[in-house]
Amino acid sequence: MKIVVIGGTGLIGSKVVALLAEQGHDVVAASPASGVDTLTGAGVAAVLVGADVVVDVSNSPSFEDAPAWDFFTTATGNLLAAGQAAGVSHNVTLSVVGTDRLQASGYFRAKAAQERLVAESPVPFSIVRATQFFEFVGRMADSATDGDTVRLSSARCQPMAADDVAAAVARTAVGEPSRTIGEVAGPDRFPLDDLVRAELRARNDSRRVVTDAQAPYFGVVLDDHSLTPGPDAVLAATRYPNWLAANVAAAAF
Ligand SMILES: NC(=O)c1ccc[n+]([C@@H]2O[C@H](COP(=O)([O-])OP(=O)(O)OC[C@H]3O[C@@H](n4cnc5c(N)ncnc54)[C@H](OP(=O)(O)O)[C@@H]3O)[C@@H](O)[C@H]2O)c1
Repeated sequence: MKIVVIGGTGLIGSKVVALLAEQGHDVVAASPASGVDTLTGAGVAAVLVGADVVVDVSNSPSFEDAPAWDFFTTATGNLLAAGQAAGVSHNVTLSVVGTDRLQASGYFRAKAAQERLVAESPVPFSIVRATQFFEFVGRMADSATDGDTVRLSSARCQPMAADDVAAAVARTAVGEPSRTIGEVAGPDRFPLDDLVRAELRARNDSRRVVTDAQAPYFGVVLDDHSLTPGPDAVLAATRYPNWLAANVAAAAF
């Protein structure tokens, strides 16, 4: 099968490309660096010639409202139109668990618009919603930092390893289009503030995490259901303390 991975140089994309190549598929890692820009449309039609499956694990370079909206609507529209013209038989899109509950955030309004475009396109689709990546915990801390204080709520989250996200996406890419949204998540739930405390401690980062129920997460005040998956989510194996120990020398969870 020819499988084009849009965002194939990114965190998830590079892992998806490796997994599918190991399985013997004809995989193309597409991104602006390889001349494929879904936002402008440059190179998109050419890379999709002969493609059976398109995997979209690209991300907006900016999380700000307007550029994120522009990216996820324009780039997804371009990709779907080109996919339809090329006769692509499966479009796999990576999204975020809770996107529909996080609509106070411009980024998540853009992700919801992306999901709608995918679901309404004539190209058969599967949407994989994943929870927060372990690799993203540091960015969560940074986005909630003021001086040496990190202000976060204790709302529950159920993060997962990027390797497990990539495995779920790759599995989906070689299966039949589900024509629906499926969820994948990590094996354990943590209060968000404790998760970030553990990460900072493991990295010898001296910032102090203050628990604040009203502290916004990328613009959204959370409750225990905002970030957690439903009962049908497929749970991945990698546990956060083990991942942290393997990825950070001084890990202490
Ligand atoms: N972070 C989380 O915890 C989380 C959780 C669930 C789902 N997600 C979703 O996972 C997806 C992938 O995230 P990630 O962290 O793997 O992203 P990432 O590492 O930032 O990689 C983004 C990829 O998109 C490519 N890209 C950027 N602009 C492009 C354009 N105009 N045309 C084509 N490709 C373009 C980049 O190419 P260059 O390398 O050339 O810039 C890169 O390959 C996102 O859609 C995100 O919403 C994230």
